[in-house]
Amino acid sequence: MAFYYDLRDWLEQVEEMGELKRVHGADWNLEIGAIADIVTKNPRNSWALLFDEIKDYPAGYRVLTGILNSPRRLALTVGFESKFGDREFVLAWRERLNTLKPIPPVVVKKGPILENVHTKGEINLFEFPSPMWHELDGGRYIGTGSATITRDPDEGWINIGTYRVMIQDEKTVAFYISPGKDGRIHRDKHLRRGEPCPVAIVVGEDPLLFLASILPLTHTQDGFKDEYEWIGGVRGEPFEVIEGKVTQLPIPAQAEIVLEGFAYPGDEKIEGPFGEWTGYYASQQRPEPFIKVEAVYHRNNPIICGAVVSRMPSDFTHAYELVRSAQLWNELEAAGVPEIRGVTCYQHRFITVVSIKQQYPGHAKQTAMLAMQCHAGAYLGRYVIVVDDDIDIYDFSQVLWAVATRVDPIKDIEVVQNCWSSPLDPIIPPGDKGLASRAMIDATKPYKWLAQFPPSILIKPELKAHVKQKWSGQDLFEV
Ligand SMILES: Cc1cc2nc3c(=O)[nH]c(=O)nc-3n(C[C@H](O)[C@H](O)[C@H](O)COP(=O)(O)O)c2cc1C
Repeated sequence: MAFYYDLRDWLEQVEEMGELKRVHGADWNLEIGAIADIVTKNPRNSWALLFDEIKDYPAGYRVLTGILNSPRRLALTVGFESKFGDREFVLAWRERLNTLKPIPPVVVKKGPILENVHTKGEINLFEFPSPMWHELDGGRYIGTGSATITRDPDEGWINIGTYRVMIQDEKTVAFYISPGKDGRIHRDKHLRRGEPCPVAIVVGEDPLLFLASILPLTHTQDGFKDEYEWIGGVRGEPFEVIEGKVTQLPIPAQAEIVLEGFAYPGDEKIEGPFGEWTGYYASQQRPEPFIKVEAVYHRNNPIICGAVVSRMPSDFTHAYELVRSAQLWNELEAAGVPEIRGVTCYQHRFITVVSIKQQYPGHAKQTAMLAMQCHAGAYLGRYVIVVDDDIDIYDFSQVLWAVATRVDPIKDIEVVQNCWSSPLDPIIPPGDKGLASRAMIDATKPYKWLAQFPPSILIKPELKAHVKQKWSGQDLFEV
């Protein structure tokens, strides 16, 4: 199957699928955020929204939301022929990740991103209709569904991560990166040495680049030098990049908007507050390094890719849960955990559920500890729940049934303190941010007396099929 070329090609295909709605005349000030939030919350529709003719802006300067918020768009983004249910997606994606061969990006001299290049006095970040997403936000955020590119000053590898970007003035943006994230490590290494940190921010991008930049991919563990090699592997062809004139960082040739500049040691501006993926304004306002923008590139009629952050679910929550689950499952297997039957997440990353077919005493604990601390699981989790393979982990009521009936709290819930958290964690008081505890809930039947554990009520598949067939005319079993 041929991959879409860029965001615009992707949008055409989404429109053909009947999943794109165009919204004309919304105000960048709160209306875009409100419309996108309401649409995201409606389970009966899952459109991508393309806002055009935005108040105060020329027609053609657009904002896109809801990018990955449907199974079909997620499938299109990763090159699957058809949409899958959650379980099938996780299995197929796991398989794809396990067989990916890295393909390095190709450096090209030309690309649509060079249609407009502004430097020095020509730079005005208010040229773009960056939304004021929610009422309590501290300013307009041009970067929510964006991708920030940095380079490790020691080893030279590139990282691409989604870290929010707030407009400070015509030529300055603040960016927020949580401690421990790759971009933060790069930035801090530069600044600690007293050197400027080169940064490029891609504001409208290939949805696959967005997916790569929200995933906790590690160049050491996942066999890729950087996210570009990973994207090349998924696409089966090299991703085209152009060398940024200011920072020499590789920027996508077909991006919509790119900002290039430097953060400087000792220079900070107030960032936030911003309505975060947890649904709160927990990291509040703090001084953060900011970027003096030295070049702005954009296509004609550029599109800002926005992510509508909200009380969960946001418009990226479910897609993130699926791709994270597949990655976590692979990491557990790589760490030697046998007989894993499923992995899923709820509430973005706060709750991870793993089902296993127990093989030996301690199997469940081994699973829980690794799920809590492997790379895909380590950052800002809250609960890991391990269940037996008779539990359908995609049905949260079954997971709760296991927690309610197979857990003796004194023995089966353990809390580990001082784990990797973030200033975004709403339950940690302001002075203690950075570390949080994790609960491991072993909701499997106790291995020690597995054979004596009370049998559970069961309707055999044959009986199910029989009664469904016999009473098929009465609409009894349809949902
Ligand atoms: C829509 C969205 C917005 C995000 N914004 C931020 C952010 O502002 N700061 C941050 O540190 N992480 C943010 N994240 C999480 C990171 O993108 C994610 O942890 C990613 O793995 C970071 O890349 P890295 O592992 O290469 O550092 C966001 C994630 C999503 C899905």
